[in-house]
Amino acid sequence: MLLYIKLCQYLHKKELVMIKIEKVHHVAYRCKDAKETVQWYKDKLNMDLVLAIAEDEVPSTKAPDPYMHIFLDAGMGNVLAFFELPNSDDMDRDQNTPAWVQHLALKVADVDALVAAKNSLVENGVDVLGPVHHGVFKSIYFFDPSGHRLELAADIGTSEQYQQLNEVAHAMIDEWAITKRAPKHAAWLHDHD
Ligand SMILES: [Fe+2]
Repeated sequence: MLLYIKLCQYLHKKELVMIKIEKVHHVAYRCKDAKETVQWYKDKLNMDLVLAIAEDEVPSTKAPDPYMHIFLDAGMGNVLAFFELPNSDDMDRDQNTPAWVQHLALKVADVDALVAAKNSLVENGVDVLGPVHHGVFKSIYFFDPSGHRLELAADIGTSEQYQQLNEVAHAMIDEWAITKRAPKHAAWLHDHD
């Protein structure tokens, strides 16, 4: 019996191994056209194609369903990936979620780089919103050819401000869970205009 308890304690301990996520390995979205996507991200955002993986059948089911999976360099070892699935119905977005909600934000060095990026995108025919001031960072927004909303963001906050936000984050979530109204712990974020 004692041995059994010891074994249970040992196994239980094993389950409590702390997971440590190192970084985002890649994020994957669907795209309308892989070649167009590779070209657009290179032309507009200077992001290189890292690798492409393609098969004519689904690995698990062996169903004939060709796909192209492309991986783009998003800087610092971050990877943005897409799938083109020519045999599936046309892609669409979640109609119950406003268009501004689901997006991918990419970081640029500073506000000068953000403004320069906006000018370059506009010159390249991209419709750009912003810069929008979010208190501790500024952002511009636009859409890729598949309709994914992209954000470029430049941090402007001080380390004290980020620390302050971190300290109130849990309290804000707890209040929101009850009221479903914006908590005021970090109202100073919106005092910049
Ligand atoms: Fe964002």
